[in-house]
Amino acid sequence: MRLKDKVVIITGAASGIGRASAIRFAAEGAKVVAADRNKEPGLLCVEEIKSHGGDAQFIQVDVSSSHEVQKMIKTSIEKYQRLDVLFNDAGIFLHNVDGPVTAISEKVFEDHYNVNLKGTFLCCKYGIPHIIESGGGTVINMATVDAIIGIGYDGYAASKGGIVAMTRSMALSYGPQNVRVNCIAPGTVKTPINEGELNDIEKTKKYLQMTPLGRFAEPEEIASAALFLASDESSYVTGTTLVVDGGMSVI
Ligand SMILES: NC(=O)c1ccc[n+]([C@@H]2O[C@H](COP(=O)([O-])OP(=O)(O)OC[C@H]3O[C@@H](n4cnc5c(N)ncnc54)[C@H](O)[C@@H]3O)[C@@H](O)[C@H]2O)c1
Repeated sequence: MRLKDKVVIITGAASGIGRASAIRFAAEGAKVVAADRNKEPGLLCVEEIKSHGGDAQFIQVDVSSSHEVQKMIKTSIEKYQRLDVLFNDAGIFLHNVDGPVTAISEKVFEDHYNVNLKGTFLCCKYGIPHIIESGGGTVINMATVDAIIGIGYDGYAASKGGIVAMTRSMALSYGPQNVRVNCIAPGTVKTPINEGELNDIEKTKKYLQMTPLGRFAEPEEIASAALFLASDESSYVTGTTLVVDGGMSVI
C-alpha cells in the first residue's frame, strides 16, 4: 500500500478527479478527508470508501472562504491528529461565460480567482503548518493544460497559471521543511466540470484533434498521477507541473 496510514485532505472530492483520487488513495491505505462544498455526493464518496473497508470522513467546505477552510483543517486535525498530504483539487471552470478578457465580466474573472487560486492559497496557508508539524509531507495543486497552452478561456487560464507559479515558489519556500509541492495539469477529462463543452459536437471534435492520443482522460487516469505525487515514489520531485494531457500541449 503506497499511502498506508497517511492522512490526506482532498478538496473537490465529491465529484470527478477528486472523487476518483479519494477512492484510489483510500484503497492505498490513506485516511481520507473528502472535502467539498456539495454535501450529498461528498457523503456518497465517503460511503463508497467505507464500503470497501477504507477510512474516510466528509467535511463540507467552500474553499474560497478563509473561515471555512480554517474550520476544515481544524476538524481534520481533531479527527486524525496529523496531515501528510494536501490535494487541492476543488475548482470551477465557467466555460459558458469565460473567454477573451475583453468579452468576460469582472465577476467571471473574480469567481475563477476566488475558488481556484485563492482557494488553493487558503488551503495551503492553513494546511501546510500541520504538514510541517507532522514531519513533512506533500502538497498537490490542480492546474490545467490551459495554464501551459492558450485555449481561449482567459479567466480560467489566469487562475490556473497562478497555481503553476505559486506551486514553483512554494516548493522553494517549503523544501527545507520537507514539504514537496507539485501540481498537475490535465488535458480534457470526462467529468461534470466540462459536461457542457463535451456535449458540444464541434468543440469535442476540436479538442480531440488537439489530442495526439485521440481520446479524453478518465478521472482515474489523473488520480494515478496524483497518487504518484502523493506517494514516496515521487520523493525527489518538487516544484514541478506534471502534465497529463494525452499530448495536447505538444501540438
Ligand atoms: N475535467 C477536466 O477536463 C479538467 C482539466 C484540467 C483541470 N481540471 C481541474 O480539475 C479539478 C477537478 O475538476 P473535475 O474535472 O473533477 O470537475 P468536477 O466538477 O467533477 O469536480 C469539481 C469539484 O470541486 C467542487 N468545488 C467547486 N468549487 C468549490 C468550492 N468553492 N469549495 C469546495 N469545493 C468546490 C465541486 O463541488 C466538485 O465536486 C478542478 O480544479 C479543475 O479545474 C479539470
